[in-house]
Amino acid sequence: MRELRDEDLVLGLESSCDETAAAILRADGTILAEAVLSQLAEHTPYGGVVPEIAARSHLAHLPALVRRVLDQAGTTPAGLAAVAATAGPGLIGGLIVGATLGKGIAIAQGLPYLAINHLEGHALTPRLPGVHPGGVAPEARGALAFPYLLLLLSGGHCQCVLVEGVGRHRRLGTTLDDAVGEAFDKSAKLLGLPWPGGPHLERLAGAGDAKRFSLPRPLYGREGCDFSFSGLKTAVANIVAKGLDDQGRADLAAGFQAAVSATLANRAAHALAMAPGATALVVSGGVAANQGIRAALAEVAAKAGLPLVAPPIRLCTDNAVMIAWAGIERLRAGLTEPLDHAPRPRWPLAELAAPEPGICRHVHPA
Ligand code: KG4
Ligand code: ZN
Repeated sequence: MRELRDEDLVLGLESSCDETAAAILRADGTILAEAVLSQLAEHTPYGGVVPEIAARSHLAHLPALVRRVLDQAGTTPAGLAAVAATAGPGLIGGLIVGATLGKGIAIAQGLPYLAINHLEGHALTPRLPGVHPGGVAPEARGALAFPYLLLLLSGGHCQCVLVEGVGRHRRLGTTLDDAVGEAFDKSAKLLGLPWPGGPHLERLAGAGDAKRFSLPRPLYGREGCDFSFSGLKTAVANIVAKGLDDQGRADLAAGFQAAVSATLANRAAHALAMAPGATALVVSGGVAANQGIRAALAEVAAKAGLPLVAPPIRLCTDNAVMIAWAGIERLRAGLTEPLDHAPRPRWPLAELAAPEPGICRHVHPA
């Protein structure tokens, strides 16, 4: 394809889990339109995401969402320069819906198609202009320089990744059992809170005394930056089983949040020591909304003399802006996928295509 120009428009589609999302970005990173439809209400009766319901819901809503963002951006499919869709990892039904719609539009308009790894979407979001303080000026485009350390903390992911470049990601640590958001959700459920429990647990913790219960801090101080949360959840279950009044529940919530914050801070400090060239500590994923965790990570970053970068929450949780942006970054690096690219329910970051060393064309037209 010809070189990407700043005014080119890229459509992004996200349908890997329980958010149906579409967005249109200019290639300079300006967000022209974005829409996210949460399926929360459809899955809540089951206390978790039901894959079949998710796939059907994506199919029912994604085409209308695409029309909506096209209208918002004041354009039509013919006005697009490329289409980027999440092609994994995630629930296969939803991935097929998004990738197939993306390919359909690409074929109809003769456009390049980008099969985006959802995790790379999260990983590259902090480079979106305006996300990093000081990154709003055009000359500061892509102000957050590689490599940076990303803590991806959500219900589905719990990873510590050194982001070295487009398609170049080194996983330094991961969870040995539950994802951190999952631990929040399971503990919240034990405390009688609605699903998903993270935000409810944080609110309850605000009224509690974190010192009342002594809870484990799994892997704290251990080498590396892997995580483990199932022991913590079991400790919560054991305390709940003995019976708690309202103040006790708040104290336990506060203790849980303090234990998670301390553990994450310790793991992040280790990770930074493993990545001496990192330019920033980035925290993303739904759990990044937690103020206690942010404060703990800000302290770790400050000690290392680095900024803590946290994208706005709507860009931290699943969205399509990140997919369109990853598409733009990949196009600039000269990478696209053939139209027969099959969605991948499992797709580790280590298996991403990356530009050949030396031919990466990070060209920004004058
Ligand atoms: O990124 P996300 O929206 O979806 C994926 O899991 O991919 O993350 C959702 C997770 C849930 O587990 C939710 O409980 C958790 O993020 N979460 C929080 C908070 N807000 C959302 N956990 C702790 N504190 C919060 N304020
Ligand atoms: Zn995600």
